Amino acid sequence: MPILFKDLPGPKGIPFFGSAFDMDLPNMHNQFEEMAYEYGQVYKIKLGPVKMAIISHPKIIQHILRERPEGFVRMKKMDAVLRGEGVHGVFNAEGEDWKMHRRMVAKGLDVKHQKAFFDKMSVSVERLYAKWKKAADSGEEIDIQQDFLRFTVDITTTLAFGFEMNTIEEKGGVVQDHMEKIFPMIFKRINSPIQWHKLIRRKDDREFDKALDAINVMLDQWIIDGRKRLEDHPELKENPTNFLEAILIAAEQEEDFGDEQVKGNLVTVLLAGEDTTANTLSWSIYLLTKHTEYQAKLQSEIDQSLGGEKWIQEFESTQGFKFLESIAYETMRLKPVAPILLFEPLLDVEIEGYEFKKGTRMLVHSRFAATQDENFTNGKSFYPERWMKESKCPMHSLEAYIPFGGGPRFCPGRNLALLEIKLVLAMLFKNFDLEMVTPHESIKEIMAFTMMASDFKVRLKNRS
Ligand code: HEM
Repeated sequence: MPILFKDLPGPKGIPFFGSAFDMDLPNMHNQFEEMAYEYGQVYKIKLGPVKMAIISHPKIIQHILRERPEGFVRMKKMDAVLRGEGVHGVFNAEGEDWKMHRRMVAKGLDVKHQKAFFDKMSVSVERLYAKWKKAADSGEEIDIQQDFLRFTVDITTTLAFGFEMNTIEEKGGVVQDHMEKIFPMIFKRINSPIQWHKLIRRKDDREFDKALDAINVMLDQWIIDGRKRLEDHPELKENPTNFLEAILIAAEQEEDFGDEQVKGNLVTVLLAGEDTTANTLSWSIYLLTKHTEYQAKLQSEIDQSLGGEKWIQEFESTQGFKFLESIAYETMRLKPVAPILLFEPLLDVEIEGYEFKKGTRMLVHSRFAATQDENFTNGKSFYPERWMKESKCPMHSLEAYIPFGGGPRFCPGRNLALLEIKLVLAMLFKNFDLEMVTPHESIKEIMAFTMMASDFKVRLKNRS
């Protein structure tokens, strides 16, 4: 007999509200993890009118990820909130519609484009270097998280839209200031049992509307410019040079793919490509300044690979840097920036002895499994060497490691994200030593759609 939802263990909570008042939105990922120690890898929770299965069982998670789009969809509330704001892109599309979106998005983010845009990416690396050199010379403390965010905005807009934004050097009023307001609000609305913003517009709702309007104006202009470029240079139709052009050409051929879908995917890529990569970079700094012994090891690999260069000069050279890559993988194991994914089955389903009825809300949290000793030796320790080929760690279960999701909907920006991480960390540690100014104990995880670090400051020193 399968275990039914009603028989799952879980916190009792109080009548009607369940555990709603016990949950702290920015810390909910940690709360779900703590409860997994008490109730196990599959438990249930009631949050006001909403009941959810909370899952950290690697085999069940893999099943869900794999059986898409036919068997499972992203939680429907997410689509409702995103569409409510006019966002209809690959992240919230489902079924045949998703297949069409995915084909187009994958084309625009493929390695061929990354290679073609490598020189433009190098410009952003150089700008970042110049900014940090100044900071190192003056000895000032810097907000490196903001720099990472600006870098990822610049890269995403260049690669995806062919538009050089240069938010690294500009100050204030930039696209990133608007983007910052969008994710947290979407997260808040997805998690709110009542859509208050439809009844009352508070200050943060108004700010969110303003930010979304500004992004929409910018995207409309990019679409106009993109169409004009295609008109002026019809040869681009055979060989589009960026994501925007590829998607505009595809939209001409697909009846169901209009301006709404084009714009939806532009917003999606802008949102998905920025915070995730920037926050992963921030967490790698947090870990490398906490475990300083790894800075020297990383610098030794970078020195060897870069020789006299200040940063990676050619796309082909990014293939090396195996220890740097291990730092990135280990950072994502301990600090996954997307620690929570939400799904619903489209049919009644039995997985690993559990029965989930059609429409059951399923919250998958990924870090619990990735930090258990049965899946990763000394699972809670920062040990990048475990990702090296010669590692002797007996436990290394990739089934329990899903920082980029999995199955047919795994993150299509994975390679781009890893490339950006390599470019930035190689330049940073080649030229500077890094010291955390803010005490590590005071740096907190904040969940706001992606899991970011609370503010921290670092100091850079020129390497001799
Ligand atoms: C370290 C950086 C990143 C992390 C950790 C990350 C993580 C994720 C995760 C967990 C998902 C959900 C996958 C699933 O449902 O199985 C996802 C989806 C997605 N990501 Fe990323 N991501 C990163 C960077 C990027 C970048 C740079 C882009 C694009 C520029 C991007 C674009 C997308 C898109 C479009 C989706 C939706 C895919 C779909 O639904 O088919 N991501 N990402």
